Amino acid sequence: MQMEKELVQAALAAREKAYAPYSGFLVGAALLAENGKVYPGCNVENAAFGPSNCAERTAVFSAVCDGQRHFRMLAVAGGKAGEPLAACFPCGVCRQVLSEFCGPDFPVLVVSSDDGAYQTYTLQELLPCHFTL
Ligand code: THU
Repeated sequence: MQMEKELVQAALAAREKAYAPYSGFLVGAALLAENGKVYPGCNVENAAFGPSNCAERTAVFSAVCDGQRHFRMLAVAGGKAGEPLAACFPCGVCRQVLSEFCGPDFPVLVVSSDDGAYQTYTLQELLPCHFTL
């Protein structure tokens, strides 16, 4: 439970770094790697919209770039700037990216309020029948 709470706090802290001037929707993620290191991620938007990146993928790509490919769990916190947090589920693209590195039982902690309350879903629940070659 302690690690889950720390990961949720890391996701909330990463959300503070979100660059989302176009949507005003701020997302933070924190990915716990097998080696115990926590990789934060935030959404980074772009004037051309298409090149924008989600918080979850920022975290995954950062971890992979650091040599990590095995992960224990992910926390996600997202919501409109200035509004109370509500559950923000990873988008379909991020679910597929997670499925590249994480198994069906991989836990995704979805933060549902500013006080750090969260609900846990498995990757299998979020993305049944993921695409694989
Ligand atoms: N966003 C994320 O960062 N993660 C998600 O799982 C859903 C959406 C971002 C992308 C965009 O910057 C903003 O939220 C609104 O879609």
